[in-house]
Amino acid sequence: MKNYFGYTDKICVVTGATSGMGKATVEILVDLGAKVYALDLNPCTVEGITKFIKCNLAKKEEIDEAFKIIPEHIDCFFGVAGLSGAKTDYRTTFDCNYTANMYITLNYLKNRMNKGGAIVYCTSTAGLEWKKFKKEQNKVVHAKTWEEVQELTKKLAASAPATFAYMYSKRCTSQFACEQSVEFAKLGIRINNVLPASTDTGMKQEFQDMVGSEEGLIAQAGLAGRLANPEEMAYPMVFLNSEMASFVSGLDMVVDYTDTCLKTLGLKKNLEAVSATNPIICALAKKMITKSANNTKALNPGKNNEK
Ligand SMILES: NC(=O)c1ccc[n+]([C@@H]2O[C@H](COP(=O)([O-])OP(=O)(O)OC[C@H]3O[C@@H](n4cnc5c(N)ncnc54)[C@H](O)[C@@H]3O)[C@@H](O)[C@H]2O)c1
Repeated sequence: MKNYFGYTDKICVVTGATSGMGKATVEILVDLGAKVYALDLNPCTVEGITKFIKCNLAKKEEIDEAFKIIPEHIDCFFGVAGLSGAKTDYRTTFDCNYTANMYITLNYLKNRMNKGGAIVYCTSTAGLEWKKFKKEQNKVVHAKTWEEVQELTKKLAASAPATFAYMYSKRCTSQFACEQSVEFAKLGIRINNVLPASTDTGMKQEFQDMVGSEEGLIAQAGLAGRLANPEEMAYPMVFLNSEMASFVSGLDMVVDYTDTCLKTLGLKKNLEAVSATNPIICALAKKMITKSANNTKALNPGKNNEK
């Protein structure tokens, strides 16, 4: 049979390789014969990987160290790692979700990939409205260095809730991918995004706590009537970076079982169409989040002392 995917012996770098969609991606790539370099904060134990590299993607120096270990030539990059912002601060959330992908792409992938190389970022349906809010993202997305991004997001990091870093970072990643797909096309390298809806991964509980129930999460997964499995997000990512998608570049592939169509057709309210940087909205959201956390503490006083 023809090797349609063409992953045999390809050097693939996967971030967020230890859990959820990243782990599922690693498993499929190993099965398809790729040489997988797995990056994560925690050890990736998938059998058959070429190397696990411990790396905190919110730290530029750790990324630099990781890419000293990764071979000079890279075929495919899967930027899957992400943080919801429920347990991390704005800076860490934003840098893991956006800055790391920007930095790796411009500093390592551009020089180390050849014609035929492919990049996919795992963004989110939370970032779907990026075209509407381009003005909010432009400066950050056009910044070329880690330090510039830090400077441009300094005020936000000090004032906005960390969960807002999620939506903003995903919007920035989608816009970055769109703009860079045009630049990288000149080199014969493709760039695409996968935008997952609610998926049953390590992040599930954090999103569930934000919306209040599992039903609330399922309601964000279109007409599927269930959450997606991690593999159901990994398959599209593996497809997009494979030879099967050789003419696909600059695509936001929404994987949401009609959720976006329902919104487009006016059959469902679009709650994502809010600013991620407006100071009044950020302050209001922060107030609401603090109030709801205080209410939870008051209702579960015993839990406060648990560690
Ligand atoms: N689960 C969902 O409902 C959902 C929906 C839309 C988008 N996403 C996106 O999917 C991607 C994969 O997440 P998942 O749902 O599989 O969650 P997950 O928590 O199961 O996996 C995330 C992985 O990223 C790693 N990671 C986190 N911070 C890191 C850091 N600073 N440095 C290195 N590694 C780090 C974690 O250790 C973990 O292995 C993320 O980008 C997430 O934003 C998830």
